[in-house]
Amino acid sequence: MTNTIARSHLPTPHGGVLINRVQKFDGDLSTLPKIELSERNFADLELIATGVYSPLTGFMGEKDYLNVVENMRLDSGLPWSVPITLGVSQEVADQLSGLVVLTHGGEAVGTLNITEKYAARKEWEAGHVYKTTEEAHPGVAALYAQGDINLAGEVTLFELNRGQFANHHYTPAETREIFETRGWKTVVAFQTRNPIHRAHEYLHKVALELVDGLFLNPLVGATKSDDVPADTRMEAYEKLLEHYYPKTRVLLGVYPAAMRYAGPREAILHAISRRNYGCTHFIVGRDHAGVGSYYGTYDAQEIFGAYNPEELGLTILKFEHTFYCQTCGQMVSPRTCPHDSKHHLILSGTRVRGMLRAGENLPREFTRPEVAEILRAAYNAQE
Ligand code: ADX
Repeated sequence: MTNTIARSHLPTPHGGVLINRVQKFDGDLSTLPKIELSERNFADLELIATGVYSPLTGFMGEKDYLNVVENMRLDSGLPWSVPITLGVSQEVADQLSGLVVLTHGGEAVGTLNITEKYAARKEWEAGHVYKTTEEAHPGVAALYAQGDINLAGEVTLFELNRGQFANHHYTPAETREIFETRGWKTVVAFQTRNPIHRAHEYLHKVALELVDGLFLNPLVGATKSDDVPADTRMEAYEKLLEHYYPKTRVLLGVYPAAMRYAGPREAILHAISRRNYGCTHFIVGRDHAGVGSYYGTYDAQEIFGAYNPEELGLTILKFEHTFYCQTCGQMVSPRTCPHDSKHHLILSGTRVRGMLRAGENLPREFTRPEVAEILRAAYNAQE
C-alpha cells in the first residue's frame, strides 16, 4: 500500500501514514480484564483500526482531548475536531490498567493498552464541540451517557467484521486501491444519513461534472431513533445507482461511524475521514450533520476557514441550499434561480416523515419514484 500511496494522485493520509491496527491476538485472552463497548465505541474502534481516523492509533489521551475540544487540533498540531474517547465509570476505571480485552455483544473484538485515565469534562466538551450543553441534543445525550473517566491508549481490532452491508464495506486501503484501479485522479466523497432525494442527487451530479469519481459514503452507524434506518437507505441507494448514475464513475461504500449531530465540528471529522479513504474533494451542503436549530445553515462550511486548506489535504465543495423550482423545471439554488419561494418545492424531514406515515405520495420533484416506493414500503412495514 505504501508504494501505491507514494505514486498516487490521491491525497496522503492525514498525518502521512495510513494506520492499520487490525491484528490477531496470540496470547491467552481469558486472563485479561474485559470492557464491553457501546455501539458507538465499537464503531470508533473499527474506524481507528482500519485507518479511517488516521493518525489516531487508539482512544485519545488527555493532551489530545483538551487540545481537540479547545483548539480543534491534536497535541501534534494536526487538525482534529471531535474527541474520540472511551468513557467508563470511576469504579470500572479503578480496576483496570495495562492490556484489556474489548468486547462487543460479549465477544472479544480487540484490545486496549491503557496508558492513561483522566476525567472527562463533559459539559465543557459539549459546549465547545456541540455548541450546547442541552441533553435534548442527541450527540450531547450520547456524550453524557458515557462513563466519567476516559481510558486512553492504543487499540487493536482482531478482525474486520463487514456486517450487514458486507458487499459495500471497504477499508481506506481498499478504497484507495479501487480508486487507483479505476484511474480516478480526483474523487468526491458524499456523507449522508438521510434517504437520498433529488437535492442530494443534484449535488452528486454537479460534482461529477468536475471530478473523476464519486464515493457515496452513507453513514450506517448509530443514528437517532427517528432517522430512517440504514438498510432502507442502502436499498434506496442501490436502486438509484442502478437507474440514474453512471456505474463506472460511482463507488457505494458505507461509513461505519455513529452520527454525532455535531454540525460544523462533525463536518471536519467527516472531511478528514474521507481524505483517509483517498478522496480529493468533500461535499458540504446546507446544515451538514446538523440537528434541530442548533447550527446556522452554513456554519459547517464556514468552520473550514479555521485551517489552511493544505492542512486538511482535500478540497471542500460547498453548496447552497438546493431544491426544485417549478418554473425553472429543474433543481436550483439561490445562486441559480431568479424566482421566489412560491415557485419552489421544499420539504422538511419532518414533513416527509409525516407524508410517509399518512401513506401520501412524495412528489417526484422531491424524490425519485423508485426511492419513494422503498420508503413507503419501509413505513408500511413499521405500522
Ligand atoms: S447529514 O447529517 O449527513 O449532513 P444529509 O444526509 O441530509 O445529512 O446531508 C448530506 C449532505 O448533503 C450534507 O453535506 C448536507 O449539507 C447536504 N444537503 C442535504 N440536503 C441539501 C439541500 N437541499 N441543499 C444543499 N445541500 C444539502
